Amino acid sequence: MNFTLRKAHNNDINNILNILSPYVKQGILLPRNTDDIANNLSTFSVAVTPKKHIGVISFYKYNNKLYEIRSLAVDQRYHHHGVGKHLVEYAINDIVQQSKEAIIFCLTYNPVFFKKTGFLEVEKNTLPHKIWKDCQYCKHRDNCTETAMIYKADIKV
Ligand SMILES: CC(C)(COP(=O)(O)OP(=O)(O)OC[C@H]1O[C@@H](n2cnc3c(N)ncnc32)[C@H](O)[C@@H]1OP(=O)(O)O)[C@@H](O)C(=O)NCCC(=O)NCCS
Repeated sequence: MNFTLRKAHNNDINNILNILSPYVKQGILLPRNTDDIANNLSTFSVAVTPKKHIGVISFYKYNNKLYEIRSLAVDQRYHHHGVGKHLVEYAINDIVQQSKEAIIFCLTYNPVFFKKTGFLEVEKNTLPHKIWKDCQYCKHRDNCTETAMIYKADIKV
């Protein structure tokens, strides 16, 4: 499929919200709003075809050594074409350019996908306490079944 990846611009924000929206409604992703995205625009990247936006990814920097992949979503009509995997690789490249020693983690309901992009499952309690600050906004905060995973560049399956 013909798509390209690039850093997000201000005029991508509505498209980003549209891609995230169905997954936010399902409780798979945390809600984001225009201000959240505008204030952190440099951490967002998009996948676009010549006609439309089809995917988005972002990351959050806790400090130079700890980054979280977040707000990853691909329009359901474009699943299973490699868009998600390319977005993860693009964001990892972005992070590694900022910090060679970064530990990159994610919290996900889709560990199979992340395993295929080079992440390994870890115990949640091995991640620092501060990463749980967003849990208050999550629909599943009292019954969390997310898997914690850390990126290991050399273990893609
Ligand atoms: C997860 C998501 C981003 C994957 O996007 P995608 O573009 O369909 O994924 P890709 O086509 O790049 O798939 C990469 C690999 O993962 C596999 N994969 C993708 N989705 C999968 C799923 N739901 N279950 C199991 N494997 C999956 C693919 O088969 C592919 O395997 P291969 O390399 O052996 O062919 C997409 O399903 C999505 O937007 N989900 C809803 C939001 C979400 O869960 N975000 C992540 C939360 S942190």
